[in-house]
Amino acid sequence: MSTVHELLQEGRSLLHGVPAPAIEAKVFLLQAAGLSEVEFLASPQRIIRAKDEQRYRRLLERRLTGVPLAYVIGRKEFWSMLFRVKPGVLIPRPETELLVEKTLELAGGRKVTIVDIGTGSGNIALALAKELPAARIVATDVSARALRIAGLNAQDHGLENVAFVRGSLFSALGGLGLEGSCDFIVCNPPYVSAADWDSMSCEVRDHEPRRAFLGGRTGLDFIRRLIKGSPAFLKPHAHLLFEVGYGQAAAAVSLLGPGWTDVKSSADLRGIPRVLTARISERP
Ligand SMILES: C[S@@+](CC[C@H](N)C(=O)[O-])C[C@H]1O[C@@H](n2cnc3c(N)ncnc32)[C@H](O)[C@@H]1O
Repeated sequence: MSTVHELLQEGRSLLHGVPAPAIEAKVFLLQAAGLSEVEFLASPQRIIRAKDEQRYRRLLERRLTGVPLAYVIGRKEFWSMLFRVKPGVLIPRPETELLVEKTLELAGGRKVTIVDIGTGSGNIALALAKELPAARIVATDVSARALRIAGLNAQDHGLENVAFVRGSLFSALGGLGLEGSCDFIVCNPPYVSAADWDSMSCEVRDHEPRRAFLGGRTGLDFIRRLIKGSPAFLKPHAHLLFEVGYGQAAAAVSLLGPGWTDVKSSADLRGIPRVLTARISERP
């Protein structure tokens, strides 16, 4: 039988190859033993039950095979909300919070209709649903696994104003009466080029869904289709907002044709242009 302190020391040294060994060891121990942060801090000499110790070791072992932390614990925080994630469903990234922030700025608390394309765990749609309880939100994805998890996330957060529908890009929206009636289309698209995918970390390539990242040879294929399909669903003067990859903003802006105005790019906390906003002026 071991104490909190001993198990933490052991976990920290086993995890020496990950970016934050002490934090990850603590996360695994809290999860395995069902301890709160306060219990953890208050009693380093607390004895951990044998079955919790075994559970802790299994979490460490899984992490040591390269499985991302979020998949090991099955959770990831986004917009101060906890989201379930599992292999096959993209782990939400902190920079994507900017897309939520920019949409909320433009929505200004109005009763709006929003479509989220490629919802994954539902993180963007559900963060918006929490902040805009009067909004009607429809979220799509091609992945049945992602939509199952997104549905569970909606239940966990008690958010009922999001409908999840399956289909490629806009194909799932037919019959929902959304043509010409959306105030916002938001999307964190697959935007990684084939060359960049090859240089991404094994943690990403071996465990996260390729389909969530790859945007064709140049990374811009999905964005091109998003821009082409959006006008049919937007109200006049409504907005399209989408995330772009590092160094991709200028190329993505050039894909927005003459029907778009007020094109703006917003930078993330690292100063990287990350979110493009554009307003439809007329139906092309
Ligand atoms: C970059 S991930 C974004 C996930 C989530 N919205 C987020 O921000 O974390 C892109 C998502 O698009 C989905 N996707 C890929 N191809 C698609 C398609 N043709 N139509 C709809 N969704 C697609 C993937 O399954 C994935 O969930």
